[in-house]
Amino acid sequence: MRKALIVVKLGGSALTDKTAIYTPRRAAIGRAAKQIADLRRRFSFVVVHGAGSYGHIPVKRWHLTSGFKHAGQLRGLAATKSKLLEWELILDEAFLKHHVPLIPLLASDYVVTKNGRIHTTDLRPITNWLRLGCVPSSGGDIVTDLRNGFAILSGDQLAAYLAIKLKASRLIFGTDVDGVFDSNPKLNPRARLLSDLTVTSAARFASRARGSTAPDVTGGMAGKIREAVAVAARGIPVYFVNLTKNERLKAAALDRQVLCSKIIPA
Ligand code: IPE
Repeated sequence: MRKALIVVKLGGSALTDKTAIYTPRRAAIGRAAKQIADLRRRFSFVVVHGAGSYGHIPVKRWHLTSGFKHAGQLRGLAATKSKLLEWELILDEAFLKHHVPLIPLLASDYVVTKNGRIHTTDLRPITNWLRLGCVPSSGGDIVTDLRNGFAILSGDQLAAYLAIKLKASRLIFGTDVDGVFDSNPKLNPRARLLSDLTVTSAARFASRARGSTAPDVTGGMAGKIREAVAVAARGIPVYFVNLTKNERLKAAALDRQVLCSKIIPA
C-alpha cells in the first residue's frame, strides 16, 4: 500500500532569523529534519521551505517585489537566486545528517506564474522522486511570470498547490509561533490561540489578519491562512505548528494531542 503523503511547509521565520540577512537557525532546521526522519516509515513527504532571510531581505534590497521593470535589476536577481541555492544546500546537508533523501528541486524550473499565482507546472519530477521513496524539496523562489517577467512565489502558495494537486492527506505549516492567534502574539502577550478552525471561520479570520513583524514580501500569516483555506476547502486538513518546539510537527502528523491550530474541512 502507498504511504499517505504529507506536504510540510517549513517556515522561513523558524528556520532563519528573518531580521538578519543569511542567518540560518541550525537547531530548528535539525529539529524539523529529525521529526521528518522519524515519520518517514509511516508517511511520504514533500518538503516546501520558506526563503527566510535568504529571500525576503535581498528581494526588498534589490527591488524585485513587483517583477521585471528594467535590466538594472538583473544583477540583484541573479545574486538572490544564487543565495537561495546556498540556502537550499544548507537545508539538504541538515536533512542528510538524519538520513532523509531530500531531493532539491528549484520551483523556477517547474512552475510558471501569471500575476504571481501559479499558472503552469510540470509535477512529474516530484511524483517520480516520490515513487522512488525520496523526499522532494522546493523553496519559496523567484520564478518566471507570464505578465510581470518574474514573480516572488511564496512557499505557502506552492505548498498549498502541491497539497491539492498531489492529493496529500494533510498539509502542515511549521512556523515560529504555536498556531493561528486572534492577534499577533509577537506584539500582544494576551493573543489567544485559535486551535480549531473551520473553513468558514478561517476565511473570515484571514480577511482581518495582518502580515508579519519581520521583513516579508509574500504576505506573512494572513497570506498563509488564505492559502490554507483553499486547501481545507478541498477536504485536506491543515495544521499550523511551532517548529521551534520539540516534537510538535510529529504530534500533528500522528494526530496526537498537541498545542497547534487546525483547519478542519467543513
Ligand atoms: C519567499 O518564500 C520567497 C522569496 C522571498 C524569494 P516564503 O514566503 O515561503 O518564505 P518565508 O517562509 O516567509 O520565509
